[in-house]
Amino acid sequence: MLYENLALNERGHLTIAGYDASKLVAQFGTPLFLVDEAVIRRQCRTYLTAMQESFRQGSFPLYASKALSCKAIYRLMAEEGIGVDVSSAGELYTARAAGFPMERIYFHGNNKTDADIRFGIECGVGCFICDSEDELLVVDRQAQDLGTCQKIILRLTPGIDPHTHEKINTGRIDSKFGAAIETGQAEKLVQLALRLSHVELLGFHCHIGSQIFDHKPFCDAAILMVDFIAEMSSHYGYKTKVLDLGGGMAVRYAEGDPVIDYGKNIRHIGILIREACAKAGVEEPIVLMEPGRSIVAAAGITLYTVGSIKKIPGFKNYVSVDGGMTDNPRYTLYGSAYTVLAADNMNANLDFCCTVAGRCCESGDLIQENVLLPEMHRGDLLAVLTTGAYNYSMASNYNRVPRPPLVFLGENGPWTAVRRETLDDMIKLDL
Ligand code: LLP
Repeated sequence: MLYENLALNERGHLTIAGYDASKLVAQFGTPLFLVDEAVIRRQCRTYLTAMQESFRQGSFPLYASKALSCKAIYRLMAEEGIGVDVSSAGELYTARAAGFPMERIYFHGNNKTDADIRFGIECGVGCFICDSEDELLVVDRQAQDLGTCQKIILRLTPGIDPHTHEKINTGRIDSKFGAAIETGQAEKLVQLALRLSHVELLGFHCHIGSQIFDHKPFCDAAILMVDFIAEMSSHYGYKTKVLDLGGGMAVRYAEGDPVIDYGKNIRHIGILIREACAKAGVEEPIVLMEPGRSIVAAAGITLYTVGSIKKIPGFKNYVSVDGGMTDNPRYTLYGSAYTVLAADNMNANLDFCCTVAGRCCESGDLIQENVLLPEMHRGDLLAVLTTGAYNYSMASNYNRVPRPPLVFLGENGPWTAVRRETLDDMIKLDL
């Protein structure tokens, strides 16, 4: 199977971390998001260990919490001793409510409002990742107002095209994020940051995109960033303390996807940075990385109950489930691949080709097309794998569909980290 925590029991049911999918459904209902805590912890440790071994002392990962944000996740990250990247006041608020240490928060976002910036400084976040001149000026002014000096990192666009999906490609010069090195705008931003007295410039950040299998674009970006660090040293005598390389390492959604050795990739980047720094005559910076998907995606599974089955002879078969784009919009948005399994009938022959559809009034509301499953019946269970990242965090209430709960599979058994929304929740904001 795609992951080690999945197996098949004597009843022909899928098990996740040893739990029978159909028993979990009997207890928690469907649609159901399951999150295997052990998988998340293992990934955190893989990153932390490899980064400590490969980069300058003091280097560590920041979990990019846009991938999956809820109080339980921030508590888990606090226990694992890593940092967190938040990309909005809402994520920051959640992290704070979970008691996550504010000095280990890195505050992202290409368009933070003045209120976001003030909230971040008041919370005492460790660092702002500043995206533009505008933002830099507001951070400086607000820090002065609040009688403090805010640590910042500047987001740069290194001009790398990692050839991932257009909508999740962020490192190119024409990106809406950061300041481009090639156009000279990055250097201008450095000049400004060095002039301001209520910000302390720690260093530079880049994030080239997401779901990138090849390690070469990360290596290329790291080298370009070290070149920039060397230039800033020679132009301004500026000593970069921190280099944040963003996130973006891929995960396996389907059997055909290559297996990724995250530790090996990190060690490779470590060697390149060391060599490049030595060559350029600059001190090695502390390195940060911001994995989101590769920390939580594989830990997540969604379970659905099959509803109506529609066979259109000579055309297509539809199997509709009790969720869809409201809990997983990724096929609708990006045409993303997913592995779908008949969770309560794992030994049957896969001889029924179908499209797994959601329940929204929208033809594009599909989970996956051309899926091979056994003959399906109303009430059967389907499991969709690798839904830990960018599923719950991108879920919506379109058609006023309540969002499923997040049930964590922890050391002491399954527990509800975020409860299921009710129909009453659908009107709770209506005045
Ligand atoms: N750092 C920054 C600045 C980012 O913008 C992102 C993701 C990450 C880190 C984490 O990247 P990861 O390791 O998760 O690839 N909704 C899309 C993904 C959007 C990614 C946005 N930024 C999807 O479902 O594929």
